[in-house]
Amino acid sequence: SWTTGNVIDEQVQAIREQVGDKRAICGLSGGVDSAVAAALVQKAIGSQLTCVYVDHGLMRKGETEQVEKDFVAATGVQLKVVDAEERFLEALAGVSDPEEKRKIIGREFIRVFEQAQAEIVADEGPAVEFLVQGTLYPDVVESGGGTGTANIKSHHNVGGLPEDLEFQLVEPLRKLFKDEVRMVGQELGLPEEIVQRQPFPGPGLGIRIVGEVTKERLDLLREADAIAREELTVAGLDRDIWQCPVVLLADVRSVGVQGDGRTYGHPIVLRPVSSEDAMTADWSRLPYDVLARISTRITNEVRDVNRVVLDVTSKPPGTIEWE
Ligand code: XMP
Repeated sequence: SWTTGNVIDEQVQAIREQVGDKRAICGLSGGVDSAVAAALVQKAIGSQLTCVYVDHGLMRKGETEQVEKDFVAATGVQLKVVDAEERFLEALAGVSDPEEKRKIIGREFIRVFEQAQAEIVADEGPAVEFLVQGTLYPDVVESGGGTGTANIKSHHNVGGLPEDLEFQLVEPLRKLFKDEVRMVGQELGLPEEIVQRQPFPGPGLGIRIVGEVTKERLDLLREADAIAREELTVAGLDRDIWQCPVVLLADVRSVGVQGDGRTYGHPIVLRPVSSEDAMTADWSRLPYDVLARISTRITNEVRDVNRVVLDVTSKPPGTIEWE
């Protein structure tokens, strides 16, 4: 019968058989799929696995620490963190177009990941022959069910890896749905914040700043986003909403009156949505008092923000993200 315990035992056995005494690497994104896949492989082959986390500086508040500290503490995994914030910010300087941003972030990600991978391969020890991927059952169906090769959808995937990949894939989540992956993650003792994480785009906050991406704007958006997340959690709404992008309209300014005088700042958009699969979505009817608390706190606590607006558009016609 299906239990998380059985799934874990089965996969640990299968991974050991597949990988033998070779080495494997796994890219961590901060998301639940890559985290659970890595934790399973770690359980199976321990120090034969090395994980890579590219810190592109576009993560939300606390998320990098969750991977660097909490995930490592929970799994004992060997982790190579690449601090690439400056590199990403330089590459993004002066760019406002959303598709352009996506391309740049995807390209830089692959370069940094490849470099890290080359360094790991160059270390002493047996060859690195395996790449761990958090492919889920719906991904398998979507991509035609192929197995064993590097068949990675570049669509929406900042971890989209190079085509000339020379690794064999280890995909321990291929038979699982998202809720099952969360249960397995829980059973493996992963931090709640990672296991229950809502969808977050690979390009991160880079596509939630309408306008150029700068360090200052990222810091500001991180604060606003952290407040919104905190209040939604306190209100017990995490399970009711699919995700809630918080967007900084950096190219728009609005007049406000704060403290003793007139301010000329930026609006923040709240985009809470309910959805089954992100293909369509409806805007979430959040309680007014929760919205009020988020609005008051953001305008009080986040410098340069003097207005909070609510996005009441379904998908279609609006996409979930603003960019
Ligand atoms: P949209 O904005 O297209 O988003 O309605 C649908 C879902 O996909 C996520 N999303 C992305 N995920 N890389 C990702 O990994 C991306 O470039 C990307 N763009 C959108 C979005 O957060 C939502 O869950």
